Amino acid sequence: MGSTQVEFKNAATSTLLELVKARRTYYGLKAESPISDAAIESIVEASVLHVPSSFNTQTSRVVLLLKEEHQKVWDIAIKAMEGLVAAGQVPKEMYENHTKPKLEAFRAGYGTVLFFVDYESLAPIKEKFAIYADKFDPFALESNAMSQFLVWTALESEGFGANLQHYSPLIDADIQKTWNLPASWKLDAQLVFGTPTSEPGEKVFAPIEDRFKVFGKSA
Ligand SMILES: Cc1cc2nc3c(=O)[nH]c(=O)nc-3n(C[C@H](O)[C@H](O)[C@H](O)COP(=O)(O)O)c2cc1C
Repeated sequence: MGSTQVEFKNAATSTLLELVKARRTYYGLKAESPISDAAIESIVEASVLHVPSSFNTQTSRVVLLLKEEHQKVWDIAIKAMEGLVAAGQVPKEMYENHTKPKLEAFRAGYGTVLFFVDYESLAPIKEKFAIYADKFDPFALESNAMSQFLVWTALESEGFGANLQHYSPLIDADIQKTWNLPASWKLDAQLVFGTPTSEPGEKVFAPIEDRFKVFGKSA
């Protein structure tokens, strides 16, 4: 494979790629942290400040929730799911056997990072560059996903395990109310993290040659 046995000019490049390869989905988490809360905060802050956005629109909004504040997210999700069960929209057995244990496993972690996009902030630039107007929303989501990936990878580099969840729109109203967040912040993803209590599952890779092509490479 082309990616093996190469030498980089900067050793940090190898380190970066090793961290990227090591990032996995961890579902078994406990409420302990291998690092200080300030170190977690600085990882998340860096993702807000330094991840790029189209036209430098800076559309991502992020909330870091630790310990009891983190647990509130999953209490909200549990309450919302129980509402769906009570309304007959989700089978009770499925909730009890699958969804509830999953939500309780998230709640057992140390923290959750909430990733939002402020699409409303794009109104002036959509007007200014009307030709790209329909591109700005997807660009904003792409930029948000870059922040998610950075935080996920950096937290795992520090000894956390993490998993990425999507309980929007089910939890949106209560999330906004609980932390008094601006109505224009549209929730996209929730990154749950904690000290791992189990290993990630096996991961199968589709053949790289079906997914990646190179042209013009020197021998
Ligand atoms: C955009 C995106 C959305 C995802 N959404 C969820 C999700 O809602 N729930 C979940 O448990 N995992 C979710 N995942 C995790 C993927 O299932 C996981 O990353 C993938 O199976 C590869 O496994 P790995 O993370 O261990 O490399 C998501 C991942 C990505 C990149």
